[in-house]
Amino acid sequence: QRHLISAADLTRDDAVLILDTAEEMARVADRPIKKLPTLRGRTVVNLFFEDSTRTRISFEAAEKRLSADVINFTAKGSSVSKGESLKDTAQTLEAMGVDAVVIRHGASGAPYRLATSGWIDAAVINAGDGTHQHPTQALLDAFTMRRRLVGRDAGIGQDLAGKRITLVGDILHSRVARSNVDLLHTLGAEVTLVAPPTLVPVGVGSWPCEVSYDLDNTLSKSDAVMLLRVQRERMNAAFFPTEREYSRRYGLDGDRMAKMPEHAIVMHPGPMVRGMEITAEVADSERCTAIEQVTNGVSIRMAVLYLLLGGNEPAVTHTRTEEK
Ligand code: CP
Repeated sequence: QRHLISAADLTRDDAVLILDTAEEMARVADRPIKKLPTLRGRTVVNLFFEDSTRTRISFEAAEKRLSADVINFTAKGSSVSKGESLKDTAQTLEAMGVDAVVIRHGASGAPYRLATSGWIDAAVINAGDGTHQHPTQALLDAFTMRRRLVGRDAGIGQDLAGKRITLVGDILHSRVARSNVDLLHTLGAEVTLVAPPTLVPVGVGSWPCEVSYDLDNTLSKSDAVMLLRVQRERMNAAFFPTEREYSRRYGLDGDRMAKMPEHAIVMHPGPMVRGMEITAEVADSERCTAIEQVTNGVSIRMAVLYLLLGGNEPAVTHTRTEEK
């Protein structure tokens, strides 16, 4: 059984295969009927114990575009509120005939536990666990960078060798940062983390990246600047940076964006807090790829589902009889 638990588990070739497959999947979105038969007869459950807008909806869109049967489960309103465990919840869902589980959970390691415990046989895809990993986010970010910085067609088969990527913000609580550092390193990019000292994790010295506390100094040396939300919900209130202080030193406004090279892009995984890590001027500018990242997320999740569940089916570009 294959799973996707961590971006760190992907080799360069795995990651490039997913990005290339996502390019094929993106072509489906350009068709009048945005659907493939690849996962017909397969059932995927979206098991969300934490809130989500982008990840939950884009997994659902991806599953439906691949013709899977989709079950959506959110902890709110379920028997989890009565104390039911992850094991019992997962086994209950699998008893209904599930081939894959897409799981978001507040506890780091929950998807790994589900994949390795023997509780269920289904494939497990991590949709974000605690502060640990969010591998499909890193893949959609890499896909967006490759398209913008290498080219849609020129990028096929390519990695991100030599691209300079800066991640700014709450690194301490960010599974997006951890996943991106792992994947970008695998793809050959040079990563710099910029954050207030209180939001840099202990042990970051062993990560394959540089750390800086000076955003202004890194902007001119960045091909992409990714802003991360300050995750107040995971913080003790005593450690909240004030919005004013944070935005003054680490927020991206129009003046700072002007220091970036002309080709460089601004990225944000969402949800954005406008006025704190990013001004409305930057968020709404053509250089900001936040909405493009959401679109690309559907293609990446289609690619991951296809490669995990439908790998023996014909390649997506050769299913013309099913497009009618
Ligand atoms: N980027 C991301 O994971 O967003 P959601 O929390 O809305 O899914």
